[in-house]
Amino acid sequence: MYMDINILQIDKPIWFMRQAGRHLPEYRKLRLKKGSFLDFCFDLDSVVESSLQPIRRYDIDCAIVFSDILVVPFLLGQKVSFYKGHGPNLESLSFKSLLNLKKTDIKIKKLEISYEAIKRVRTLLNSNKSLIGFCGAPWTVSCYMIDGNSRSGFSLSKDSIKNKKLDLELLLEKLVDTSIDHLAKQYESGCDTLMIFESWAGLVDQKNRKDILYSPVKKIISGLRERNVKAPIIVFPKGLGRGIVEYIKNVVADVYSIDYETDMDWVIKSVKKDIILQGNLNPEVLLRGGNKLVQEALKIKKQVEGRQHIFNLGHGLLPQTPISNVHKYIEILRNY
Ligand code: CP3
Repeated sequence: MYMDINILQIDKPIWFMRQAGRHLPEYRKLRLKKGSFLDFCFDLDSVVESSLQPIRRYDIDCAIVFSDILVVPFLLGQKVSFYKGHGPNLESLSFKSLLNLKKTDIKIKKLEISYEAIKRVRTLLNSNKSLIGFCGAPWTVSCYMIDGNSRSGFSLSKDSIKNKKLDLELLLEKLVDTSIDHLAKQYESGCDTLMIFESWAGLVDQKNRKDILYSPVKKIISGLRERNVKAPIIVFPKGLGRGIVEYIKNVVADVYSIDYETDMDWVIKSVKKDIILQGNLNPEVLLRGGNKLVQEALKIKKQVEGRQHIFNLGHGLLPQTPISNVHKYIEILRNY
């Protein structure tokens, strides 16, 4: 598919992780019309509308397709549910069963709705806006698949690195293949930029990072390039602290998203100027607003002067964030 634009062709673009979702009253209203979160994710009109809502509200530079990283285990046939206030819950399965999971036609049909929604969003979105597709990185998705929920801090997943590494690596391989497929289809449907969320990178100790974090993500990126996917790829390994520099050396991607706990000045000093970064306002600062928000907006503008940069948060937008704070932040980034 021919794309007019991608995120790297926009001058200092602005968007927010989790921009589509609960902080918007228009999302909450729309969400009420569907029962479960997954029903919502697989309803064409709901996905199209919720992807466009933040663009209408803020006129920011990128839309992200409304979906979730946990549609991949769903696609593989693991039962996935979301309980209000408790986050996701996945069917408890042994490693053997996880490795035997197979895509079924019914599940693939459901995901076709996401791809159809991407086509529709692309036609409705102004041609100067970027459309981002995404998936979770294999380790992060496997954390939910193995532990079923985040309540115990993914103790089973961490344990599998120590005691069942071969099984874990087979599961990661399976997720690599499914993720390549899923991202390639999002690209072919009209996403001009792709992002890989590694929310739980920080759980992996230094000596296992090569096998558990770097290698699977590198395989996804090279698999996409082999399939002629030309979209820029953003990676977001959260929680590595200063380990982000080693990650950047090992995983060649187009953009690195920096989490809010990492000192942006330090990252900028530690990497070459042509490495493109994204981030990293603390979502709490956006939620609280006031003087601190103004200072932080001016600070990040100054930090990234003379560099190509993507303005974003250092993690997802929090549900209680006032809309006026988001407007204020955008205004300072753009004008002042
Ligand atoms: O706006 C966007 O960014 C697009 C949509 C999007 C969602 N989830 C919608 C969603 C994206 C990109 C995600 C990514 C995601 N999902 C991640 C990676 C980023 C991160 O936050 O670390 C992870 C770990 C998940 C798994 C997940 N999905 C959790 C832990 C939860 C429950 C708690 C929470 O954070 O909201 C979800 C549910 C979910 N995904 C909601 C939304 C809008 C809330 C569901 C609702 O409407 O009640």
